Amino acid sequence: MKDKILALAGSSSKKSINKKLVNWVASLFENYDTELLDLNDYEVPLFSVDYEADYGFSPRILELHHKISQSDLILISLAEHNGSYSAAFKNVFDWLSRIPNTSVFQGKSLFLMSTSPGARGGKSVLDAAIARFPFNGAVVAEHFSLPKFYETFDENDGIIDVEKKSEILEKVKYIKELLV
Ligand SMILES: Cc1cc2nc3c(=O)[nH]c(=O)nc-3n(C[C@H](O)[C@H](O)[C@H](O)COP(=O)(O)O)c2cc1C
Repeated sequence: MKDKILALAGSSSKKSINKKLVNWVASLFENYDTELLDLNDYEVPLFSVDYEADYGFSPRILELHHKISQSDLILISLAEHNGSYSAAFKNVFDWLSRIPNTSVFQGKSLFLMSTSPGARGGKSVLDAAIARFPFNGAVVAEHFSLPKFYETFDENDGIIDVEKKSEILEKVKYIKELLV
């Protein structure tokens, strides 16, 4: 059976640049069973302990947890909002972290990414995730940030910056070797 890869952007923007990046990276995994997720499909009530006590978990959150359990690799590209996760991503993350007797990432390997229009390429949120996600059951296999998205990425050709393209291809190759 083919390895199952989930790809998700940590953004609810319809024009998300992180979605463009992560979907392009997913396309580099040609011979895998790749599923492109959309955070908008997991728009659930704002997490609160009171809401959880009164109404429990949304079926969408449980479905996402199940998808993660069935995956072999997760590609995530995080949008940076004020140095951290977008509210949409953090909400889903908080909900997933409340499911009893499990963890958000369930021991799965992650390829973590970020991009932004600026020179830091979302490095603050990426660093936060690299430091945090292992406490939520993630194995961070690789990470990558793409600065100046509108100069380094082309809608048709993907990453066009020579150094960054070579970096991502190396990292994808390494991840494929892990999956064998
Ligand atoms: C509320 C808000 C806060 C932002 N804060 C940052 C920031 O701290 N650092 C940064 O590089 N870009 C920041 N940006 C710009 C985002 O990087 C940019 O909107 C990017 O397109 C977000 O990724 P997305 O298109 O995948 O949603 C911010 C944007 C918004 C809307």
